[in-house]
Amino acid sequence: MVNRKHSLGLVWSIIRRGLLKKYVLIFVILIAMVLFMQSVKVIQPNDKREINPASPFYVKRCIPKYHIAFLKVHKSGSSTVANIIQRFALENNLNVVLPLKKPHVSHYNYIGDSKPLTKQSIIPLPNNQSYDILYNHVIYNRTFFRAILPPDTFYFAIVREPVDRFLSAARYYGLQKQLIKNGILNANSTKYIFSKFLENQRKLKTGHNNYVDNGMAHDFGVPRKQIHNISFVKDYLKQLDKDFHFVMLMEYFDESLILLKKLLCWDIKHVLYIKLNTFKGHKDTDHDLSNADIARLHEWQEADFLIYKHFSFKFSQLIHSAGSDFLQEVRNFKDIVRQINKFCIGVPKKSFTVTNSQWNEQFVITRDDCKRMNTRELKLHDMLVQKALDNLRLSSH
Ligand SMILES: *[C@@H]1O[C@H](CO)[C@@H](O)[C@H](O)[C@H]1NC(C)=O
Ligand SMILES: *[C@@H]1O[C@H](CO)[C@@H](O)[C@H](O)[C@H]1NC(C)=O
Ligand SMILES: *[C@@H]1O[C@H](CO)[C@@H](O)[C@H](O)[C@H]1NC(C)=O
Ligand SMILES: *[C@@H]1O[C@H](CO)[C@@H](O)[C@H](O)[C@H]1NC(C)=O
Repeated sequence: MVNRKHSLGLVWSIIRRGLLKKYVLIFVILIAMVLFMQSVKVIQPNDKREINPASPFYVKRCIPKYHIAFLKVHKSGSSTVANIIQRFALENNLNVVLPLKKPHVSHYNYIGDSKPLTKQSIIPLPNNQSYDILYNHVIYNRTFFRAILPPDTFYFAIVREPVDRFLSAARYYGLQKQLIKNGILNANSTKYIFSKFLENQRKLKTGHNNYVDNGMAHDFGVPRKQIHNISFVKDYLKQLDKDFHFVMLMEYFDESLILLKKLLCWDIKHVLYIKLNTFKGHKDTDHDLSNADIARLHEWQEADFLIYKHFSFKFSQLIHSAGSDFLQEVRNFKDIVRQINKFCIGVPKKSFTVTNSQWNEQFVITRDDCKRMNTRELKLHDMLVQKALDNLRLSSH
C-alpha cells in the first residue's frame, strides 16, 4: 500500500498549490481590472487627452462641423432652419456667403436671383479668409457652391410633401387671386378652386410661377426647360443624391433636427427653435383638392414627387440606422422645445435650466437666447451683412 500519509501530503500540497494559483489568479484579475479602469477613463468623451488611433480603445471623437451649405427650399419650413444657422454663424463668428445687394429691395436676401451665379453675386471676403456657411435663398448651382465653399462642407436641404407644398405655395403667392384676375376662376367659388387650373395648366400661360410649378425641383437647380423632362430629372437626381449629405423632411421636423444635430456634432441648444406663425398651419378647406386634382398634380409635378420620394426613402433608412433610442431622444427633444417655447413666450423669468438627460448635459436658456430665436430672419440677415461689411472694411485698412 502506498504511504497514505505521503499521498495525503501530496493531495494537500496540490490543493495548496491550487489555492496559491487561485490567489495569483485573483491578484492578476485585480491588476487587470485596475488597468482596464484606467484605460476606460482614457476614452471618456470629455477627456481632452489625445488617444492613439491605433489603440483598440480609440473612439472617434465627434468634431463639430462649421462648414455648411443649406439649400433653403421655399415653403418647406426652411425659415426655422435658417434661424438656427444664423444663430450658429453669429455665435461662432463665421463667414457667411451673402448676396451683394442694396438692402431692403425686393429679394435682397436671395443670392443671384435671375442673374447667373458668380463671385460678383456675393459680398467679398478679405483676401486671407474663406467662407464657412451658405444658407440664403438661392437656386442650387453645383459649380458655384463648390467654387466658393471649402471641400469639407456639409450639404443639406429640406423638402416637403408636394401636395401640401403646392397648397402652401399657392396660398402664399396668391394663386387664387391670379386665377380670378385671369378669368379662370369664379370669384364666388369656394370648393376645389384649383380644379380648372389643374385641368388646363399646361395650356395656361398665366396663373402660376416658379414657386408653384415644381418649386422644389426649381430650387434644387433643375433648369426650367427640363423640369417636365423626367429622364433629365432622374439623371439630375442622381447627382443631387451625391451632392447632398442629408435632406430633412418638414413632416418630421424634430426628427430631422436630431439627425442634423448628430451629423453636425452640434449641441441640442444649437437646434432649438421657437414655433413661429408659419407653423400654425391654418387649414382653409376652400383650398381642398379633389382626387382628380391630386392625380393631375402628381402628373404635372412629377419632378417634385420624384425628389420627395427619393429623399424621404433615404430619410427613413437613416432613422433605422440612428440607434434604438432615437425615438426616445426625439421625445426628449420635443419636451425641451415645449418647455423653451413656454419659457420664452411666457412671463418674464431671467433664465431657464434644461435638466440633463441621457442625451444632453444640463444647460441654461436666457432671455437673450429667446430673443435671438424669436428674431425675424431678415433682421438677423441684416446683422450678418453688417458684420461681413465691417470685416471687409477692417481688413482693407
Ligand atoms: C453656375 O455657376 C457658375 C460658376 O459661378 C456660373 O458660371 C454659371 O453661369 C452658373 N449657372 C447659373 C444657371 O447660374
Ligand atoms: C357672385 O355671387 C353674387 C351673389 O350671389 C352674384 O351677384 C355675382 O354675380 C356672383 N359673381 C360671379 C362672378 O359669378
Ligand atoms: C430630356 O433629357 C434627356 C436626358 O438628359 C436629354 O437627352 C433630352 O435631350 C431631353 N429632352 C429635351 C426635349 O430637352
Ligand atoms: C488676415 O488679415 C488681417 C488684416 O491684414 C489680419 O489682421 C489677420 O491676422 C489675417 N488673418 C490671417 C489668418 O492671416
